[in-house]
Amino acid sequence: MARIDEITDGIYRLSTTVDDDGFEFQFNQFLIDDDRPALIHTGMYGMYEGVRDAVAEVVDPGKLAYVVLLHFEADECGGMDRFLGGAPESALACSALSNDLNLSGWNFDGRVEAHRDGDVIDLGRHKLRFLETPHVHHWDSMMLFDETTRSLFPSDLFIQAGDQPPVVTENLGSEMCSLYREVGIFAHEEPVRRVVDRLEALDPDWGHGMHGGSLTREALPHFVRALREEPFAYQGKLLGRPLEQPA
Ligand SMILES: [Fe+2]
Ligand SMILES: [Fe+2]
Repeated sequence: MARIDEITDGIYRLSTTVDDDGFEFQFNQFLIDDDRPALIHTGMYGMYEGVRDAVAEVVDPGKLAYVVLLHFEADECGGMDRFLGGAPESALACSALSNDLNLSGWNFDGRVEAHRDGDVIDLGRHKLRFLETPHVHHWDSMMLFDETTRSLFPSDLFIQAGDQPPVVTENLGSEMCSLYREVGIFAHEEPVRRVVDRLEALDPDWGHGMHGGSLTREALPHFVRALREEPFAYQGKLLGRPLEQPA
């Protein structure tokens, strides 16, 4: 079962650390316990039981109102069919682009809410505002900002490798940029830096990323500075493998 930690006021981090040949990496989901509970990211298909059991420690998975995916990729939404199937009143909330480019062309027949920048989902006490953040790191990418706890859900931005504690205060900005260069998930720095400016203006108290620990407001500026000052875009490597470029 995924590890469960309440990070702040009704926001639970469900985390599974995977060891790939000595390289440890975490997959987090965030459960918001509210009148209408929401699960942000589901994890991959094979993680479903471990994540569902962790959800069940906090709320009845059958009472989930929303499953949110922030871009169309397996660690975001591999478990969506079964989470939605087990919660009859639930809807999948995603970006308009995730729906138009991907979901609508798959054999998915669950309830979908496609959102654009500025839309808000009201969970009760928590209000989730959608930010469209294209090319960070997918075309359809978006993030969420919970106005109540001033929590940002940046998905793959502010990534940290390793078996991190639930809350990270350390400056791991350079390590983040080096990991991004190694795995090659960003085509270019510019769209990311544009989003970073926007995120900084939101002045979040928390950054709940999908990989690593949740960042406090003291830690976030370290990561922001690294993204402004260091290179992190694709440099010819995919998941650590240098590509043989044709002459
Ligand atoms: Fe991703
Ligand atoms: Fe991810």
